[in-house]
Amino acid sequence: METARLELSEVRKHFGSTKALDGASLMVQPGEVHALIGENGAGKSTLMKILSGACSRDAGEIKLDGEDLRLTNPLQARDQGISMIYQELNLAPDLSVAENVLLGMEPKRFGWLNRKEMQDRASAALEELGAQAIDPQTTVRRLTIAQQQLVEIARALVSDPRVVIMDEPTSSLTQADTERLFAVIRRLRDRGVSVIYISHFLEECQAVCDGYTVLRDGKSVGSGESMSQTSLDEIVHLMVGREVSDIYAVPPHAMGDSVLQVVEVSGLDKPRKVSLELHTGEIFGLAGLVGAGRTETLRSIFGLDPMTGGSVERAGKRLPGSRPHERLREGLGLLSENRKEEGLLLNRHVADNLTLSDLKPLTRYGWIRESAQRAAAEHWIDELGVKTSGPDQEMGKLSGGNQQKVAIARLLHHGSDVLLLDEPTRGIDVASKQQIYRLMGRLAAEGKAVLFVSSYLPELLGVCDTIGVMRRGELVAVKPAADWTEHAIMLAATGADESVA
Ligand SMILES: Nc1ncnc2c1ncn2[C@@H]1O[C@H](COP(=O)(O)OP(=O)(O)OP(=O)(O)O)[C@@H](O)[C@H]1O
Ligand SMILES: [Mg+2]
Repeated sequence: METARLELSEVRKHFGSTKALDGASLMVQPGEVHALIGENGAGKSTLMKILSGACSRDAGEIKLDGEDLRLTNPLQARDQGISMIYQELNLAPDLSVAENVLLGMEPKRFGWLNRKEMQDRASAALEELGAQAIDPQTTVRRLTIAQQQLVEIARALVSDPRVVIMDEPTSSLTQADTERLFAVIRRLRDRGVSVIYISHFLEECQAVCDGYTVLRDGKSVGSGESMSQTSLDEIVHLMVGREVSDIYAVPPHAMGDSVLQVVEVSGLDKPRKVSLELHTGEIFGLAGLVGAGRTETLRSIFGLDPMTGGSVERAGKRLPGSRPHERLREGLGLLSENRKEEGLLLNRHVADNLTLSDLKPLTRYGWIRESAQRAAAEHWIDELGVKTSGPDQEMGKLSGGNQQKVAIARLLHHGSDVLLLDEPTRGIDVASKQQIYRLMGRLAAEGKAVLFVSSYLPELLGVCDTIGVMRRGELVAVKPAADWTEHAIMLAATGADESVA
């Protein structure tokens, strides 16, 4: 038999009392795209960090093309042909695109940095991704998240890899960007490169992956050679150890009075004269392509971006002030799309993150009673199924999806009655998504209003009462969710008769 490209056997890793990996095994062939699947906190990122030299292991073997692999840092891994694209984007925001792409492997001539070659190599890598629109000289900070992700992927490509690891690469890509990425993955596969692909979008894994491995609680619990021939029910069952059905079934809730009126709100570029109304007990979905202005709309309503026109009102009265802490005081809350922006305090414990606001600590929490704080934190950990060793665990040590859950819980802890949620289920596993949808339904049943931005149409259609579609900064159509189909939303989002660039 052909030697496997990669063979990881019985890898173990503990962090204090947490067993992150407890016998994880994985086999990948040359030119195979392999899905690594598992719930939030199952150990996927940890296993990949070990493989890419960013983290040490306690036990287990790793063979790359039949040879024992021992790494002490990520640069060594890159030399061996293993490149990793991190879940939390890992770019230096103040360096240029080219500098980021070639970080650690800058071309030198006689000891001098060869800028020309750097630009050329970065351009070539971006072009391979179909991202030639990104100028290698731009500072990374000025790019959108989707563009930053492409830069991160370009960085993996320049080192002529044998194995490319992608940890949730599409969570902030548009459908078109995702398709482009899939084309790149297939090209890599044809060149004999192996790709390990981590995603909570199981349909995507089916579309692009060959084999799969499922991790549960740090152990490999199942694997197969054909992801597309395996039913998703079977895979979800392996992931969570039980059936998950009716994922979009939310508790019944009824729409009541108008609680928030957004009247012709405009921002610097986007949104453009967006008007909408939220009612008690309403889950209002905002659909649209990336760049349509959904995020900007939420940010303008919440005062994170300046409003250049229009008003945000309650009961026909303009809300006082315009800044986030003033919005918070008026009962609005925002979960931003970028977890890094959420101001999670990575070196503070989970309880602090859950109960303190970085915008303005609520005065009644001016004096913290630790037992009360702990109890509140435990409540939220339980409510959202946050996988943590307890309220005292350091925030930065939670898995990506679990950090996202804390960000959501923190928002709910404010008790806001108008919740602006930007991609709340990004990076969240199937079973936890179901938990979040149910929670949204319960909040609506309590009379709260939710404005829910998502790029994943099935969840918008599944849980929303009303759906609005944005295009180029404008809200172009609003209808009850029952009157929409995925197709109709796509037509509205792209402009039915305009060609899509
Ligand atoms: N540096 C660390 N210190 C302590 N615990 C850690 C550390 N890194 C990871 N863990 C724990 O190890 C477990 C596995 O985490 P990991 O990030 O590998 O999960 P994951 O499968 O990638 O999840 P997600 O889908 O949410 O990204 C989690 O319980 C996490 O809290
Ligand atoms: Mg992870």
